[in-house]
Amino acid sequence: MSKVEQTLSIIKPDAVERNLIEEIKSIFLKNNLIIKEDKKIQITKEEAAEFYKIHQSKPFYDALCSYLSSGPIVVMVLEGENAVSKNRKLMGATDPKNADENTIRKLYGISIDKNSVHGSDSIENAKQEINFFFKS
Ligand code: CMP
Repeated sequence: MSKVEQTLSIIKPDAVERNLIEEIKSIFLKNNLIIKEDKKIQITKEEAAEFYKIHQSKPFYDALCSYLSSGPIVVMVLEGENAVSKNRKLMGATDPKNADENTIRKLYGISIDKNSVHGSDSIENAKQEINFFFKS
């Protein structure tokens, strides 16, 4: 069953630095995801720690928070049918080495840390993550 959903997408510092913003946005648009909200920001390490708190027990947590706050990012609300799963499919596996051909992480990701994009993994997390960056 398909239904219209919203999800959060982040273009991470490695992709912003390499001027990949428009390429990545065009992949969403070509796949019938509308970009409802869109802003380029830089967050603090404390904000990154709050955003990624679900990962706080992981060994990579500190590096992850340092990385997300290391440079400008683009945060977007994507909307469309099955937006959460569609975005995850378009991104590909977390580690670019394991991502399918033509996914964003396969095309542009450098490493598991510098994997170019983040996307919400469930409808519930999408609501929380959208609210984190776009408080209404
Ligand atoms: P993301 O989808 O933004 O969610 C958490 C991030 O942690 C993930 O992408 C990766 O960039 C990063 N990360 C670093 N090491 C790992 C790991 N071993 N497993 C999963 N994610 C990792």
